[in-house]
Amino acid sequence: MKSNPLLQDYLKFSSRRVNTALVHCLPEKEQMPKQLHQAMHYVVLNGGKRIRACLTYATGQVFDVPPEQLNHLACAVELIHAYSLVHDDLPAMDNDDLRRGKPSCHKQFDEAMAILVGDALQTLAFFVLVHNAPSTIAPQITLDIIQTLALASGSKGMIGGQAIDLDSIGKDLSLLELENMHIHKTGALIRSSVKIGALVANQSESNELKKLDHFAKCIGLAFQVRDDILDVSGDSETMGKSTGKDKQAEKPTYPSLLGLTGAKEMCHRLVEDALDSLTLFDHKADPLRWLAQYIVHRNC
Ligand code: IPE
Ligand code: IPE
Ligand code: MG
Ligand code: MG
Ligand code: MG
Repeated sequence: MKSNPLLQDYLKFSSRRVNTALVHCLPEKEQMPKQLHQAMHYVVLNGGKRIRACLTYATGQVFDVPPEQLNHLACAVELIHAYSLVHDDLPAMDNDDLRRGKPSCHKQFDEAMAILVGDALQTLAFFVLVHNAPSTIAPQITLDIIQTLALASGSKGMIGGQAIDLDSIGKDLSLLELENMHIHKTGALIRSSVKIGALVANQSESNELKKLDHFAKCIGLAFQVRDDILDVSGDSETMGKSTGKDKQAEKPTYPSLLGLTGAKEMCHRLVEDALDSLTLFDHKADPLRWLAQYIVHRNC
């Protein structure tokens, strides 16, 4: 697929925007305890595609929410995501030494520090949702956003999925069980990145929100299917993380269950389903459309 220059610009501007906001959210590196704060900077500001932040900005844009009003939401989802990666890489979990092209947190620092960094980033995300909320956002909306992100990140969302992931090592999962795992471990946070961008625009019951939520459910699953594919056929240098780890760790994945071709077909079906649910939106939803395509065609 040809690269889309509009998407490239969108990714560039949105990731710059969230990176600037993230710098302001993080405690100063020189503030005590220095090593903890340095490690937090290390894992948050070390690149990353910022897809979740982009999804939040792109969803807000559908409802004409100015990006300045979305920065704290974009930061919160990226902080939760960064924490999840730090813990995911720990020896007790995936035992990965490379993340975003650099030594993973427990390698650069140590395991105890990586656990603490994850803990601190998770709580920082919720602090930012409150502390950095623009005064124009009604308190009830902020409460709904906190509830959405907490649910998506916890045992009924991402962490639940991570628990299923660890429990499934060496097992043959059915397609339905695998889908359930992916929808939780990766899909839930992606889905919430879209939902909070709509909630901030006061869309709590609307048909638009339902459509966006279905869109986000599809691309959230597709994101992890693509991640599984890249673990088999991707290039470690391009991706900044090790490849071949899922097979080595005997993790059930879409390529292991359906083969590479089957997994790719699944991605395409999911993105079509996702795009279908955007038909009622006009051009303001184009960045969401570009992001959906990017998610299934990306190489990193
Ligand atoms: C990696 O997520 C972990 C998964 C949920 C598959 P990303 O591929 O979005 O990682 P970064 O943020 O770009 O490093
Ligand atoms: C990670 O899935 C999901 C979360 C971090 C919640 P993976 O374990 O497949 O992600 P990578 O491949 O290490 O980035
Ligand atoms: Mg994992
Ligand atoms: Mg992993
Ligand atoms: Mg993976």
